[in-house]
Amino acid sequence: MSVKNAMTSEFLHSAYGGESMAHMRYLIWGDLAEKEGFPNVAKLFRAISYAEQVHATNHFRAIGGETAAATVAAGGIFGPNKTADNLRGAIMGELHEVEQMYPVYLHTAEFQNEPEAKRSFHFALEAEKQHASLYQQALDAVTEGKDIALDSVYICPICGHTVLNGAPDRCPICGTVKEQYHGF
Ligand code: FE2
Ligand code: FE2
Ligand code: FE2
Repeated sequence: MSVKNAMTSEFLHSAYGGESMAHMRYLIWGDLAEKEGFPNVAKLFRAISYAEQVHATNHFRAIGGETAAATVAAGGIFGPNKTADNLRGAIMGELHEVEQMYPVYLHTAEFQNEPEAKRSFHFALEAEKQHASLYQQALDAVTEGKDIALDSVYICPICGHTVLNGAPDRCPICGTVKEQYHGF
């Protein structure tokens, strides 16, 4: 299956690029947090990196079997900094997705009657809201020189839903059962 409309297709490519970059950026920042003595922030970065992989995978699938060059002009934060700076960058990126990017992409997919893109954008939008809030919790802790308090982070492999300390019986976004969640 592939998308019918050029604008939705463009948005899927852009979102795929943005999610791919976020996936790698969070892995890098996870390693840096570990080195800086924040193992739980590192765990959060790595878990959310996986959630971004889930989003990239959904967008990639929704684009369909297209062979084409695509230039990605994704907004992003570059470079390694201190963990507090990296968390600020992460929050900025997540809020951009929640407030600007995904609402516009989602409404376009709805308007253009593109069910697969709509599903993919909806899943990402809902998960990014949790990411912004969890990174803010982490930043609050790190600002006080502490690690974030958490035991584990669970990610839904279908939509990227992200939750601390144990998975729900069913994903509140997509309905996936608890046993499917990936634990970090
Ligand atoms: Fe994402
Ligand atoms: Fe995210
Ligand atoms: Fe889910």
